Amino acid sequence: MTNVTGRASAPGKVILAGEHFAVHGVPALALPFTGACTTVSVAPAPPETVTLTAALSENDHARALTVVEAALTRLALPRAWTVSVDSTIPVGFGLGSSAAFAVALVRALLMAAGLSATPEDVREHAHALERLFHGSPSGLDDSVVAYETPIAFRRGEAPERLVPGAHFRFVLGAVGYAGSTMEAVASVRRRAEADPPWFSKLKDSAGSAVSQARTALESGDAHALGRALDDSHGLLQEIGVSTPELDSLVVAARDAGALGAKLTGAGWGGFMMALVTPNRHAGVRDALSKAGATLVLELDVGPVPENRRGSDGSK
Ligand code: PMV
Repeated sequence: MTNVTGRASAPGKVILAGEHFAVHGVPALALPFTGACTTVSVAPAPPETVTLTAALSENDHARALTVVEAALTRLALPRAWTVSVDSTIPVGFGLGSSAAFAVALVRALLMAAGLSATPEDVREHAHALERLFHGSPSGLDDSVVAYETPIAFRRGEAPERLVPGAHFRFVLGAVGYAGSTMEAVASVRRRAEADPPWFSKLKDSAGSAVSQARTALESGDAHALGRALDDSHGLLQEIGVSTPELDSLVVAARDAGALGAKLTGAGWGGFMMALVTPNRHAGVRDALSKAGATLVLELDVGPVPENRRGSDGSK
């Protein structure tokens, strides 16, 4: 190991379709959210000293420190680091804050240790670390954050990079509270186990919505993508992870001319996302603010250049 410092960033993410159902083996689609990111800096420290500086609650700080310790063990590095985290991704709002931390941490430590890794290596390490945050995550979040391109994902398989067929613009609106991914996932599991035939039908519908969304994304069909987002939201409502506040932001966006809207991520709080056309974009933003959104963000995705490289420099 060389005695250099390491510094790396990772973006947030949004889930376009298939969240929750992804835990149960249904494919899902996710997009990197480059409007916010987490940067991790690491520097060598005296032996048996691991310190973490991060603007986190006491509980979250303790968990993040556990993740740092686990990363050192996984990467076979000595317990001798100062780690600082700087993040613009809100914690617990479904924008992938924990995955971005895990990916940026792995990248920074590998850089400081003079080791290189592919996005797939980074993803595998980050997935193991995400388990400490979320229990049994599907791997969707760590995959899209490590690959930094739109992806199609299926639990247990390597993610597939997707190239959108056109530019799409999304407006994201937050409700004023965060949801717990671990609790929301556990609640869906309980419902699924209580009524397997019901859940199996919903899984089929979720699979169709994801497949429609993928075709629409790749072919550049905004109207079809909007319809797939609406269908996805209906399914998330059925499994009980939406809230009245998320629903009213979704309705406000649709009423203001969005092509489709859904909650994104684990639900029970956090963000919804709406697909907008250029001429409805400002109206949807306004409508979300008037309907009580506590934060309104934007995300643009479009065709990705063939030679795009991850921020760790590898393809
Ligand atoms: O990170 P969140 O809160 O956006 O949720 C992750 C997506 C889930 O499908 C709800 C969980 C998972 O592990 O895939």
